[in-house]
Amino acid sequence: MKKSICITGGAGFIGSHLVRLFVNKYPEYRIVNLDKLTYAGNLENLKDLEDKPNFEFVKGDIVDGDFIIELFKKYQFDGVIHLAAESHVDRSIANPNEFIYTNIVGTTNLLNAAKLIWKDNAEGKRFYHVSTDEVYGSLGETGYFTESTPYDPKSPYSASKASSDHLVRAYGHTFGLPYVISNCSNNYGPYQFPEKLLPLFIHNIKNNKALPVYGKGENVRDWLWVEDHAAAIDLIYHEGRNAETYNIGGNNEWTNIDLIRLLCKIMNKKLGREEGSSEKLITFVKDRAGHDLRYAIDSSKLQKELGWMPSLQFEEGLERTIDWYLENEDWLKNVTSGDYLKYYEEQYEKR
Ligand code: NAD
Ligand code: TYD
Repeated sequence: MKKSICITGGAGFIGSHLVRLFVNKYPEYRIVNLDKLTYAGNLENLKDLEDKPNFEFVKGDIVDGDFIIELFKKYQFDGVIHLAAESHVDRSIANPNEFIYTNIVGTTNLLNAAKLIWKDNAEGKRFYHVSTDEVYGSLGETGYFTESTPYDPKSPYSASKASSDHLVRAYGHTFGLPYVISNCSNNYGPYQFPEKLLPLFIHNIKNNKALPVYGKGENVRDWLWVEDHAAAIDLIYHEGRNAETYNIGGNNEWTNIDLIRLLCKIMNKKLGREEGSSEKLITFVKDRAGHDLRYAIDSSKLQKELGWMPSLQFEEGLERTIDWYLENEDWLKNVTSGDYLKYYEEQYEKR
């Protein structure tokens, strides 16, 4: 094996797309997916990779520092691509502590382990920290986040991600740990846990349930096809400059209400429903506490330096996303019922 790479959080939404890309594209790499399998982690997302000889799954918690050190000693990773996190803003408002443990303590444990095993020779090694545009805070109606926008996180989720970004840079500065960071906008696509806007609303439209729009639906997000994010991570991991940050975005801003209306329109057609019928499900509810108004990303550094571009037009991506959730109703049932935990027991605990 040419390289041994640890991808954390590989059973989650973005992580599963990244693991799939790396396992298929780099048969000469050993890809170890380290994941705790929280409610958001699901091995069914990686079912097609089970028999690949260059893929291994390790169930473990990044908050357990001793376990992480032993794992790194055993596998002698050349690279870490760190995605494991608590990722949902609403959950961070309801219960911030899990976010502090996983996102801050967990990241520090990984940094300590990488520092330890790379202390004698950091040549060719890389710690890639996957982060979010939410660390920059909230924009007004104009402007974009660039890599030099000052951090101004406003939710417990974004504050915990900002802390982890700072720690990665601090380990680079203080200990010479080779690292790279990327900050990306909202991803969409298959395998996203149905607590996030798009999968939740697709599910609700299908089942004629209310669509709970926070506030007036005027908040703006930039949406990126998840495979385009995975392609950017691949490029930055291999070609990005050491100790640099790259912003990743879709150049695709939508107010929530416009996005939801577009979703309703496409779904009316797909479900053979009358025009305007799903729109009746839109229900304005109490706003999220501290709800960031607008995120927008300037990804020109990544485009100019590494030649990355989003590949997909939004309407096409949205169609593909809707089709996937409509065709994979069992997946949705399993993740919401907890049945996927049984899947894990059947697949791994007997081995
Ligand atoms: P997700 O919630 O779908 O998946 C997170 C994964 O991490 C799950 O598989 C979970 O089991 C695992 N995990 C959680 N706690 C763990 C722990 N203590 N130890 C080991 N594994 C643990 O998240 P996602 O949406 O795929 O996001 C992945 C990363 O990308 C996160 O770091 C997130 O901050 C970042 N990000 C997400 C988006 C987005 O739109 N979803 C945008 C930009 C950046
Ligand atoms: P979400 O998918 O939670 O991502 P993030 O908060 O990280 O951007 O939410 C996307 C947008 O949709 C955000 O502005 C909050 C809004 N939203 C709703 O209006 N209703 C909902 O039920 C959810 C989950 C989100």
